[in-house]
Amino acid sequence: MQNDVYEIVARRGIFFRAFGIYNEVGGFYDFGPIGFRIRKNIEAAWRDVFVKKTGAYEVETSLIVSEPVLTASGHLSTFTDPITYCEVCGTPYRADKLVESYFEKNGMVEEASKVKKENIEELEKQLKSLPIKCEKCGNRKFSKIEKFNLVFKTQVGPTGKEPAYLRPETAQGIFVDFYSLYQAYSPKLPFLVAQAGKSFRNEISPRQQLIRQREFGQMELELFFDPEEDAASEIGVYNLQSLLNEQINFVKAGSEEAKKDSLASLLSSGQIPHAYMALLLFLEKKLIGILGIKDEEYRFRQLEPEELPHYSKGNIDLEVRTSYGFIEVAGNAYRSDYDLGQHAKLSGKDLRINVNGKKVLPHVVEASMGLDRLLIAALEHSWQKGEDRGWAWLKLPESIAPYRYAVFPLQKDEKLLAKAKEIYKHLLEQGVECYYSETGSIGKRYAKADEIGVPYCVTIDYTTLEDDTVTIRNRDTTQQVRKEAYAIQ
Ligand code: GAP
Repeated sequence: MQNDVYEIVARRGIFFRAFGIYNEVGGFYDFGPIGFRIRKNIEAAWRDVFVKKTGAYEVETSLIVSEPVLTASGHLSTFTDPITYCEVCGTPYRADKLVESYFEKNGMVEEASKVKKENIEELEKQLKSLPIKCEKCGNRKFSKIEKFNLVFKTQVGPTGKEPAYLRPETAQGIFVDFYSLYQAYSPKLPFLVAQAGKSFRNEISPRQQLIRQREFGQMELELFFDPEEDAASEIGVYNLQSLLNEQINFVKAGSEEAKKDSLASLLSSGQIPHAYMALLLFLEKKLIGILGIKDEEYRFRQLEPEELPHYSKGNIDLEVRTSYGFIEVAGNAYRSDYDLGQHAKLSGKDLRINVNGKKVLPHVVEASMGLDRLLIAALEHSWQKGEDRGWAWLKLPESIAPYRYAVFPLQKDEKLLAKAKEIYKHLLEQGVECYYSETGSIGKRYAKADEIGVPYCVTIDYTTLEDDTVTIRNRDTTQQVRKEAYAIQ
């Protein structure tokens, strides 16, 4: 698959390395005005599908969390990756990724896919036996593999004695607030709580642009339910029975190949661990469709038993094909009552709720989506080589395009400039997302609009001065039609 989209990304400042003028720390990215808009539009699409249409409560919780929260969740003890260092230059590597990328580079697809199941001893053996070299100095000796905790630590207050952490996921904020939400809203089970925001992980070797960062966007939905009750027939606008007919591309544990199957059949065979998880997969498929990712470009992957946390009753990842191979854009997990149980234990608060006279500690299924990985997927999948028009361009779906219109005076004639600015202001006043440009030839301006995915260009010409009509150029067909300027929406 192509990745020439990154030429546009770099040239148009869609995103770039943070603190780039110092060129120091990797794994942090800033978004320029175009990237910011596309990213926000992807988040808005998620909000529509996952929050508004499900009736979920959306919250915003603290980015910094106190120690007991992550002690309870297990992040401080178990949220680790295997680390090894080059024995000559000291460069740190994530050991599993080092081995995996060796296999990938050598076309050993099957071996590469098995790395995620391996424990430290197995990785150690491979690191010794394979001719893997340090990317920096070329040496072949690596240190003993250790576990490296990914949680960023900081201190709260002037004494510096109170440890705290940057949240490694948005989900824990939701679990910790569960009690307050329950008291304030007395919701009936099942109920859903969502959160979108930044999460932080001190990745050993951040790479592949936005795919493995140290600060990244997450969009998470937690669905709390009573495990002893049947799944509700409706969640918001979604009817569970009818959505089970949906066909998805599914790779079952132990297999490499995606097969089409219905959610209903995967649920009845136990490969989807709960009907509510089927709902989450349905929503994810819907969202990536909205982002322009075609049916053959995604797959759901059932995690292998070795990949599952001990409390999980089943995890399924959503992966999308990119120029970096299939990447995980979402993790779905049946987390049982683990998180609420742990927070109840450590806080001493009874987090069980009353359901028809009985006390229930709700179970949770979770859909955790990576906003920046979805941005990468949407950009790559929208990229068009554009040989016919002479420039590459982005066929972004209208709903996530950075602007709906670009407004251009045909040429630099005072009368045209004044009219174009008047129409531009009118559009802004209507709340239409648009930008104005009078710089360069009209052809160049079309090209610049196309390459950031603007669906329509509005051109003000001499006819406009006579009858207030403009030409509207369609990005996808390059066809132009004349329309009444003040009727554009
Ligand atoms: N609450 C569950 C959770 O955080 P996860 O699989 O660790 O699950 C969910 O993360 C999603 O967040 C991933 O599928 C991925 O899209 C995104 N993500 C995780 N680590 C990331 C990183 N270092 N950089 C960019 N995105 C990341």
